[in-house]
Amino acid sequence: MLEKIVVIGSNGQIGTELVTELRKIYGDGNVIACDIRRPDYDIKNAGPFEFINVLEKDILNQLFQKYKPTQVYLLAALLSATGEQNPKLAWDLNMNGLLNVLDLAIAYKTTRLYWPSSIAVFGPNSPKDKTPQYCIMDPNTVYGISKLAGERWCEYYFQRYGLDIRSIRYPGLISWKAAPGGGTTDYAIHMFNDALKKGSYQSFLSADTELPMMYMDDAIRGTIELMDVPTEKINIRSSYNLTGMSFTPEVLAEEIRKHIPHFKLGYTEYDQRQEIAASWPRSINDSQAQSDWNWKPEFNLSKMTADMLNNLKK
Ligand code: SER
Repeated sequence: MLEKIVVIGSNGQIGTELVTELRKIYGDGNVIACDIRRPDYDIKNAGPFEFINVLEKDILNQLFQKYKPTQVYLLAALLSATGEQNPKLAWDLNMNGLLNVLDLAIAYKTTRLYWPSSIAVFGPNSPKDKTPQYCIMDPNTVYGISKLAGERWCEYYFQRYGLDIRSIRYPGLISWKAAPGGGTTDYAIHMFNDALKKGSYQSFLSADTELPMMYMDDAIRGTIELMDVPTEKINIRSSYNLTGMSFTPEVLAEEIRKHIPHFKLGYTEYDQRQEIAASWPRSINDSQAQSDWNWKPEFNLSKMTADMLNNLKK
């Protein structure tokens, strides 16, 4: 079957790389990049691009009408740190954006929908180590609250309307192609950049703050793999736990020093993001993804660090 794929939020950290990868697989003309902002890179030249605000349902409706997408990826969202600066906007965008797309996916019989969730769905009373798929979830950021509510809506639309929706709870995503989007885990990306530019970095998270992370190559591959799995193998319609590795700022700095021996890591004064990080898991149990669709990360800390520094140097 010929796929028509719409990616909403194509200019972000994930979208930039996902669109490029999907276009390699399905052909440039079959992957429609959509964002509220003009793309400032190859995306616009390579294939179709549409200006879309996911909160404008009429325009969104026209998009579905024009392309009749078989697959939709909805990536537009406000992340944990930016969400705390504007909680009502984060709720509106993350929640109503999803509801708009869910309804249109039903109306236009979209075959598959992808929507990302996050480790932010967990909270202070969730188990911190090897956090299981099912446990207490008491997120305390508006981002986490919207993602947890979104997960419930996804499962609801699957059960009530049979919508084939798939989702991953991403850990912190590390990448070099596009700038990160206002998350708490972004410190790791800033550390790589500053290590190369200045030889030092001031972390807003404390030395021993351990968080689950993943290299973008793994995240993109995992996402497309999940979208390719036959429907009957998908046992989770809320969102799958997924992880690549876990580390603290101190451990990451040690790894960077293997390439940049003089690299110095310091710490900033109190930052609200520290509290957000402290409420999240240290590591994630993703055994369900392993058994349902053979998930396996390819990048560990040393392989990722070498690849990041190599690419950022260019
Ligand atoms: N990386 C995200 C954030 O820090 C978590 O999903 O907000």
